[in-house]
Amino acid sequence: MHLSREEERAYQGELGDGLRRAMEILVVLGDIYGADRLIPVRSVQVAGVSFKTIGEAGLEWIKDLRGRVVVPAVLNPAGMDLSRWREMGIDERFAEKQLEIVEAYRRLGVSPDCTCTPYQIRPDLARRGDHLAWSESSAVSFANSVIGARTNREGGPSALAAALVGKTPRYGYHLEEKRIPTHVITVDSDLKASDYGILGYIVGKEVGDGVPRFIFRKRPDVDDLKALGAAMAASGSVALYYFDEDAPSAPKGSEEILVSDKDLQEVREGFAPDDEVEVIAIGCPHSSERELAEVARLLEGKKVERELWICTARAIAERRADLVAKIERSGARVFCDTCMVVSPAGDRYRKMMVNSGKALAYVPTLCKMKAAYGSVEECVGRATGGV
Ligand code: F3S
Repeated sequence: MHLSREEERAYQGELGDGLRRAMEILVVLGDIYGADRLIPVRSVQVAGVSFKTIGEAGLEWIKDLRGRVVVPAVLNPAGMDLSRWREMGIDERFAEKQLEIVEAYRRLGVSPDCTCTPYQIRPDLARRGDHLAWSESSAVSFANSVIGARTNREGGPSALAAALVGKTPRYGYHLEEKRIPTHVITVDSDLKASDYGILGYIVGKEVGDGVPRFIFRKRPDVDDLKALGAAMAASGSVALYYFDEDAPSAPKGSEEILVSDKDLQEVREGFAPDDEVEVIAIGCPHSSERELAEVARLLEGKKVERELWICTARAIAERRADLVAKIERSGARVFCDTCMVVSPAGDRYRKMMVNSGKALAYVPTLCKMKAAYGSVEECVGRATGGV
């Protein structure tokens, strides 16, 4: 990979040890993937924040880094609500380590907005055509597919390196040729909001790391797209999809897949909730204001009988403290900075009900819990004593 004179100096350590280590990561990555050069990024989203996922070794690695980020950088969800962790049942030792991780990132200049939906709170982080270095798979999918920005799915270290250098190797989804549709998905159904997670769960398994081009009966809204992309990134590893009529066409001979009501129904039935459900979690990816409003409406005048968590970004919870108060009047909890998958809070339960295709894919593998699926109405219904 070609380096400019300045980049070469950074690589050789002439500009400090922190930049040298960051450059080493970017150069190794660029060489592996055949990048020709580094390109500037508008922003970075750094995964590898929860102590549950990175452990002691990850914490030491971050603490050992020196330097300061040179582009806006935000964090992925941590393993707990950074202020209400006791209410989540998080133990002191975990909390101490988690706070240390966030503090270590903060010292590097990374903003502690711990969310997988940075685009919901900071639209300035990504605009159409921007190059980014984002980590979290659903955020990557949203940035590439809905915003029209360009990012690979970075690992935590490579994202942090990009933040320190302000650049990322030019390969993968930064290039036009990697952004050509590989599959055509015709959806033969009038989808409701809760169907997009299931659709993504099905399509991700089918296309793996392909680039699906959807043909819908009607245009999905932003929350639908958020749910769809997240699920495909979890059941497969889809980082880019198309949903617009004016999207690029798939080359002749691309695989065509038809998804019908029957396919959706089969998956729903396979994950139907039962009496084993002990906890219900909404907000994967993190809830938007509109989704919080919907939950608040559904909970009005009701009390929860089972644990009900709603996960969102702190900035959204603060902006809509009125909705949070309404939700919490029912006994449900709105947790920020974290989620049902990256937090160990769910470990004490046997079965979790979710309204997310991504959580459906990850709860059994990363949380070792059984998972059930339902719409947001069904989730709230079950939490408030329904069946
Ligand atoms: Fe976000 Fe956690 Fe889901 S990071 S996309 S809420 S698994």
